[in-house]
Amino acid sequence: MERRVLIFDTTLRDGEQSPGVSLTPAEKLEIARQLARLRADVIEAGFPVASPGDFEAVKAIAREVRGPVICALARANPVDIDRAAEALAGAERKRIHTFIASSDVHMKYKLRKEPREVMEAAVAAVKRARQYTEDVEFSAEDATRSRPDFLCSLFRAAIEAGASTINVPDTVGYTTPREFAELIRFLRENVPGIDRVVISVHCHDDLGLAVANSLAAVEAGAGQVECAVNGIGERAGNASLEEVVMALKVRQDALGALTGIATEQIYRTSRLVATLTGMPVPPNKAVVGANAFAHESGIHQDGVLKERTTYEIMRPEDVGVPAGRLVLGKHSGRHAFRERLLALGYQLREEDVEKAFARFKEMADRKKDISDRDLEALVENEVLKEPEVWSLDCFQVSTGNRSLPTATVSLVKNGQVVQEAACGDGPVDALLRAVERAVGADFHLLEFSLKAVTGGKDALGEAAVRVERDGAVYSGRGLSTDVLEATVRAYLQAVNRWLSGMPVRRQVAAAGVD
Ligand code: KIV
Ligand code: ZN
Repeated sequence: MERRVLIFDTTLRDGEQSPGVSLTPAEKLEIARQLARLRADVIEAGFPVASPGDFEAVKAIAREVRGPVICALARANPVDIDRAAEALAGAERKRIHTFIASSDVHMKYKLRKEPREVMEAAVAAVKRARQYTEDVEFSAEDATRSRPDFLCSLFRAAIEAGASTINVPDTVGYTTPREFAELIRFLRENVPGIDRVVISVHCHDDLGLAVANSLAAVEAGAGQVECAVNGIGERAGNASLEEVVMALKVRQDALGALTGIATEQIYRTSRLVATLTGMPVPPNKAVVGANAFAHESGIHQDGVLKERTTYEIMRPEDVGVPAGRLVLGKHSGRHAFRERLLALGYQLREEDVEKAFARFKEMADRKKDISDRDLEALVENEVLKEPEVWSLDCFQVSTGNRSLPTATVSLVKNGQVVQEAACGDGPVDALLRAVERAVGADFHLLEFSLKAVTGGKDALGEAAVRVERDGAVYSGRGLSTDVLEATVRAYLQAVNRWLSGMPVRRQVAAAGVD
């Protein structure tokens, strides 16, 4: 019988620790629903003690998402563990994941603790977590730079205290495949009781080795891989879920293990995460990049036409890459629209279908054919947005290479229309200055990007901004066939997030025990 490896998805926790990424609770819930469709075994939904927003997101996911185990992260201290348990209370199946650092450098400088104290904190944390659930994961942070004998003692103590999964993180992405496989074998041979628990691995990509290290660990006997969609995560990111899963599927002959992932949901999950996090997928990214199945050279095209397997080791449909079908136009009705959304996997509330339909009609007036990809962008950008304080009524821009760009905007707040005008260095500058005048606040624009959702001159443009005010950073996204309109919509979302106090990220001390 094939060996089954568990996929522990940490997109919503470690993935959300990617620089510049901030997801609202509604966006996290949407991603968690999609991860359930993907059939991830475990969803690490967040770090509840980190912020009220994290707590609410974990709570909503625990209450609403069925299928996968829902997991919450906690440092090895009672406050974190109690908060994680509280957030997870509504889950059908829950896991508390507690961690403490085990390398000399972390214990000495970050924790300022003796190994004995770290051991005591770990045991107490696992025991406390066990009071809430039998499913407790213990991680020895920076395991790959820890002294192997100490790691063995720590894992032994955690297992005796009741941990059911022990996780071996390569926190700083330092190890290599052979070395990591040896560490897993060493632990299997030297930690009493390890055969009763699942050995998990959690690899970071600082040297570009996260996937290779994870696969080497699976070959050496690891039973769970922690990974994130599109490989997002702290610094260079985590092992990419889609790469780990497809490597295990395509090379089952060599790696000898399988996952339970519904691989045809991979592309859609990747798109959703890219859109909501604002972290685009590079075109050459393995499995989900735009070029992953594109054959450019004549020799390759000729080969694929004669026999697909000459240059393709997996089929686009295996990972759910859509055929790029044109589906709807301006004459399409509500019924066809709702059916298409359902076929794409969106189960929206009636009011959200109405909202999406209204925006679809606006877009269809300007864009002849609306593809599946356009619809996905529409739902992800427009429907999953939090309520707006300021919204766009209309705008006008006048620009040219020999004239001073000027813009006027008309915005609405509480039913009141506010109009302003401004000049700028270019049309975007003029427009954003006019918005700032209307809302009565200045922002520092840190990042601005524009990309086309699909091909063609009438393609939908997706704008993303990150702005700073009073030391806090706010992000926003907007969608329109008009790139300037997409830009204003993105800017307004950032402004609205500022008004509702939703900065991109907060810092949590990783060290604190008690
Ligand atoms: O990278 C790491 O060590 C972590 C732990 C919390 C598992 O993310
Ligand atoms: Zn990590």
